[in-house]
Amino acid sequence: MIKLVIGSQWGDEGKGKIVDMMAEKADLVVRFHGGNNAGHTVVVNGRKFPFHLIPSGILQKKPIVIIADGVVIDPDVLMEEMAIFEKMGMNLKKKLVISPRCHLIMPYHKELDQAYENARGKNKLGTTKRGIGQVYADKVSYNGIRIYELLNWSLFVEKFKFQTEIKNKILMTFGVSPIKIETYLPIFKKLAEKIRPMVRNTFSIFQKAISQKKQILLEGAHGVMLDNSFGLYPYVTASNVIEGEVNIGSGIPSKKIEEIWGVVKAYTSRVGGGPLPTELFGKTADYIREKGYEYGTTTGRPRRIGWLDLPAVKFACQLSSVNRIAITKIDILSGLSQIKVCLSYKLNGKSSKGRSPPKGDGPLVQTFGRKIEFSHCGYLELEKLTPVYKILPGWKEEITKVRKFNQLPKNCQKYLKFIENYLKIKVKIISVSPEREASMYL
Ligand code: IMP
Repeated sequence: MIKLVIGSQWGDEGKGKIVDMMAEKADLVVRFHGGNNAGHTVVVNGRKFPFHLIPSGILQKKPIVIIADGVVIDPDVLMEEMAIFEKMGMNLKKKLVISPRCHLIMPYHKELDQAYENARGKNKLGTTKRGIGQVYADKVSYNGIRIYELLNWSLFVEKFKFQTEIKNKILMTFGVSPIKIETYLPIFKKLAEKIRPMVRNTFSIFQKAISQKKQILLEGAHGVMLDNSFGLYPYVTASNVIEGEVNIGSGIPSKKIEEIWGVVKAYTSRVGGGPLPTELFGKTADYIREKGYEYGTTTGRPRRIGWLDLPAVKFACQLSSVNRIAITKIDILSGLSQIKVCLSYKLNGKSSKGRSPPKGDGPLVQTFGRKIEFSHCGYLELEKLTPVYKILPGWKEEITKVRKFNQLPKNCQKYLKFIENYLKIKVKIISVSPEREASMYL
């Protein structure tokens, strides 16, 4: 059985906790894309574990966790995370596998990410400055350096030197000091020796596991709205986030996936720039941000907050054939007198239906005569749209201790059912607090 967990919004939906729960029975837990721009927090017995690279399933006894081909690795972050688990007494040589095809985030990638953001000035994208866009750009332009090269030291040094010479020229045009590779060679050497026993051909591991009908749990990072092709480019991340990325980033054929779980946070949040149609400001936004501790796991930035945007979530679910929903952080909405949910959008205060297309409205023109769908919009269009909300009554009761659906306040039940009916996909998990056991399976 192969299961996939993906974020259906702008990341930070609470996937880490859902993966941790599901990982209990898994044989393999696999990260297949992204890098340490992702941040997953898992809470076990009151202790918080923030992950960036190592799959969240590592805290469960049974699974082996795999950093597969599509993941990009920052040496410092990997070393730090490994040290945490080793301190806890874990034998990582048995527990962790790393693909030789993973690309390395090099020091110049981080410097360039920062330099581009500075140069963009007020148009900055709000990246995590972890070098993610740059490492993937080098990957597709054949300039990347992988774990494979790292384990062939002289080849690695040669490639590192060559790339650094070129990248230093670019850095200097931004007025940034050049990188000296001697500063970094000891870090890479240490990493190479440390991970050598963990680097294995993940393709054969997966083929064997599939033929033996083992349980494989695929842990998506970020959220579909940040997908490099289908998100609001350029306010996206550099990897693809949708279901098809499983095949590209791990070699596991996506046809083999049986359960595709879309994780939906009960409201919206995002870090970074770009349009967020249901964005909220003022008291309600602050209430949700503080109660939900909506600050970036990776950067600590306060997250932007919005009401649940169902057309966006629906688009995400359609793109990835989501067939099960896990709703997270519903407890954060307790105490609000009313809750809004976005059902559709209007352009300039009017419904688009039946109107002739205004000139220069980009791809949105194709939607005239039909309903405006999230999928038709680029960021220029989305900025002009206003959400059409359904207002639902809230509930006062705190629900973090509730473990049965019918013990939830009636209005909370109605809210959850409303989401299910809109998406036409069964809600199968409801999470009511960060703790591992604070969830209900339906
Ligand atoms: P990058 O991935 O660091 O290049 O950042 C590109 C955009 O994706 C920025 O808006 C980031 O804030 C956002 N982003 C990347 N990863 C995550 C994530 O795991 N959660 C939320 N936002 C993310």
